[in-house]
Amino acid sequence: MSTDPELDALVEAARRVRLNAAADFSGFQVGAALQAADGRVFTGCNVENATYGLTVCAERVAVFKAVSEGCRRSFTRVVVVANTDAPTPPCGACRQILWEFGGDLEVILANLTEVKGRYRLRDLLPLPFDARLLG
Ligand code: THU
Repeated sequence: MSTDPELDALVEAARRVRLNAAADFSGFQVGAALQAADGRVFTGCNVENATYGLTVCAERVAVFKAVSEGCRRSFTRVVVVANTDAPTPPCGACRQILWEFGGDLEVILANLTEVKGRYRLRDLLPLPFDARLLG
């Protein structure tokens, strides 16, 4: 529990959706909960498949769900949950997608019992490539 009930709810949403992870190959279940500026929450879990390479991480599932519901570029924070002592930061591909659709949001890393770290995406993805550079 923190002093921010909205954050607590977001962490709980990420913990809950993690249980839906299709992680039959790695056994590594991840949950993500993305908060929009208007208060909406979009959740995602990792989805693996037999080719391995087509896996989509929890964070990208959450972003794609938000975008497909018409919500983009108005996110305040994302919580990522795994059942590990060391926090699970978004992979490079997810940092890129989070940046392009969410900008400099807050990235909160948690496990099943506590929040382990809080970062700005800018610090996790310095010198990002995005549409502004396409000229
Ligand atoms: N994974 C995520 O869903 N998010 C992360 O931040 C790191 C990794 C997934 C991908 C794969 O299904 C499993 O965790 C092991 O890499």
